[in-house]
Amino acid sequence: MPSFPAGFRWGVATAAYQIEGAVAEDGRGDSIWDTFCRQPGVIRDGHTGDVAADHYHRWAQDVALMADLGITAYRFSIGWPRVQPGGAGAANPAGLDFYERLTDALLAAGITPVPTLYHWDLPQPLEDAGGWLSRDTAQRFADYAALAAGRLADRIGLWITLNEPYVVTAMGYALGIHAPGKALMLGALPTAHHQLLGHGLATAALRAAGAREVMITNNYSPAWPASDSAADVAATRAYDTLQNRVFTDPVLVGRYPDLGAFGVGEGGLDCVRDGDLAVISAPIDGLGVNYYMPTRLSALPDSPLPFQMQPIPGYPLTAFGWPVVPAALTEMLTSLKQWYGEALPPLYVTENGCSQPDEVAADGTVDDPGRIDYLDGHLRAVHDAIEAGVDVRGYFEWTLTDNFEWSEGYHQRFGLVHTDFETQRRIPKSSFAWYRDLIAAQRAAG
Ligand code: BGC
Repeated sequence: MPSFPAGFRWGVATAAYQIEGAVAEDGRGDSIWDTFCRQPGVIRDGHTGDVAADHYHRWAQDVALMADLGITAYRFSIGWPRVQPGGAGAANPAGLDFYERLTDALLAAGITPVPTLYHWDLPQPLEDAGGWLSRDTAQRFADYAALAAGRLADRIGLWITLNEPYVVTAMGYALGIHAPGKALMLGALPTAHHQLLGHGLATAALRAAGAREVMITNNYSPAWPASDSAADVAATRAYDTLQNRVFTDPVLVGRYPDLGAFGVGEGGLDCVRDGDLAVISAPIDGLGVNYYMPTRLSALPDSPLPFQMQPIPGYPLTAFGWPVVPAALTEMLTSLKQWYGEALPPLYVTENGCSQPDEVAADGTVDDPGRIDYLDGHLRAVHDAIEAGVDVRGYFEWTLTDNFEWSEGYHQRFGLVHTDFETQRRIPKSSFAWYRDLIAAQRAAG
């Protein structure tokens, strides 16, 4: 592996609902994911995040694993329903205590904490009041950001507002595959604007509370046409707009891309008010890039979402069936630089990883060569982007331990550490040793 720049951050990433469990402890309120998981038939095998990887109780053991791994930064998410169970009003001190204990343990281990404020666990009372379809949720989010930073910004410098607002809009409100399970198709578009407004308002609140650096994390996927027909090329452009531009242009250049392919006229989205784009485009200090795979598209005539995804033949597949295409990560990082030029802040790969079958062998070990290949290829792809002049400052592997993988329940294992969900025993996989050795070598060289 070639050397990364000195100071490059080496990390792993997790999310509260996917690892914590303890959903009814210490005053935590319900989130939309608690409610969603209770609905029959929505999550594979009826799994829920009620226990997950029991990180709420095993956080000290997990921090010890991270220290052993040698990471320099840890991206985790703060659970809004722990900190502010009703989504408004005063903080629940016990919720903040948990994240304070975690933060202090990370700092004591020499690991920089990098919290994300929203990884999809909206307090249920806010959904009952309209969720991200309601403009008021943006202000509620900023208030919650102020509570979290009010307790922690003296120790945490770098904050992430939202994780993948595209997925919230597309999977949560347009298609109904994720919580809150609404299938509004294009009626979901206001949730994009309200999340972005929430990002902008929260950025101001974080800075007021002493945060030094603020970022947003989006998921990006190079969009490739299935053929060179005009229809497939137009469909691909529409998809690219929705996934790669709608949540980035307003933040970096203060305007929405052309949404004509989605029936939005020149006047733009109805929910946008004067001044919103100035709030949303307040300067940020970094852009989080989550990358898993490219997307290949063909036209889907007479549909509100005028594209459909096509398989990408010729590449290995993860257990999820996702194609492994490291060069597409280089393409994505260099494309961002081409699109935004001087307006692009430093990039951090805030998620990248894969699910693998990962069974425990008779001797008690877990060998996951597929994950090692995936990570090796993608880290080289990040390095290629750096060589091509893109300012990438860190890499957060997804994820530390096997966890609750949303609609797939516990069926997709993404961890460097195997979790036995019956006993909660953790077994570092061979990829853990591989990443540990890589980080040690990079840190020694840097
Ligand atoms: C999400 C994670 C998720 C991962 C793998 C990302 O889109 O941020 O929460 O587990 O992808 O599906």
